[in-house]
Amino acid sequence: MLATPDLAFRNDVLAGLAAAIPAVPARWLYDERGSELFDAITRLPSYYPTATETALLERIAPELGRRIQSNVAVIEFGSGSSTKTPLLLEAIKPAAYVPVDISGEFLEKSAEELRANIPALPVLPVTADFRLAFTLPNQIAGLPKLGFFPGSTIGNFVPRSATDLLRHFRELLGTGAMLLIGMDRVKPVERLLAAYDEPEGVTASFNLNLVERINRELEGTIPVEAFRHEVRWNDILSRIEMHLVAKRDVDFTVSGKAFAFRAGESIHTENSHKYGRRGARMLLLAGGWTPVDEWTDANGDFSIVLAEAQPNRSAP
Ligand code: AVJ
Repeated sequence: MLATPDLAFRNDVLAGLAAAIPAVPARWLYDERGSELFDAITRLPSYYPTATETALLERIAPELGRRIQSNVAVIEFGSGSSTKTPLLLEAIKPAAYVPVDISGEFLEKSAEELRANIPALPVLPVTADFRLAFTLPNQIAGLPKLGFFPGSTIGNFVPRSATDLLRHFRELLGTGAMLLIGMDRVKPVERLLAAYDEPEGVTASFNLNLVERINRELEGTIPVEAFRHEVRWNDILSRIEMHLVAKRDVDFTVSGKAFAFRAGESIHTENSHKYGRRGARMLLLAGGWTPVDEWTDANGDFSIVLAEAQPNRSAP
């Protein structure tokens, strides 16, 4: 019944649980069940980012349509099943759309849907981990490029990795390319906490699904009821953190390796960095992208930044 365990998952879990500050990289939250739960999160009233970004994109679509040449190829990193993508594609009417996602099965399904809805658009999916080196389809070699990175996915990365990632996007898309990126904003702590720990308990299930996944895929014996979902605002690092906190002393094994957690100890499972106006721009600049425009909803909850990979020039 057990499929071959993903070695990268196993390594990350075994190393992460044994670390001085136990932590498992957030991407392992997104298995099939986790992605379903995340999808449910995006529909919760307390989870403002998705609805806010979608409405914002809808509002600025005509402007984007005017300002971005329709001979661009749009490259979306970690293309979800979102309604944001068709909004952008219909506004820009690009020459090609390249969704990049690690799940090939999922990619093919959404590519088919898009082809059905926008028949004139060449959809050229690439199955790849967008953090790593991969090649763009030959068909878009000569076209100007627009990277699309919505959803504040950048917030999952600590700034050092976020900078690496942005530089990697620049390398991939080339000088002169544009990047349209969604970034969640700093706001009152109560609202941030409420977005990640709501009465419906969907985010709690999403977080606890990691334990279930470890049990399913890595022969884990973790008693799920021994852990609870906890959300913390880390002010100095400007981020929401998700943790799984041990409710009591608990022993378990994963892939035959023994672990012991004391009551109150936690496994850090996700970061969601929040940026101020200038912090957002500074991050982009550090990653090699010069902000050229920025849009925010009326509440200042979420922003979409358009940035350009300008040629390197000598200081100043
Ligand atoms: C997919 C990383 C943007 O940080 O808001 C939502 C993930 N985790 N609720 C976020 C998430 C719990 C989400 N991102």
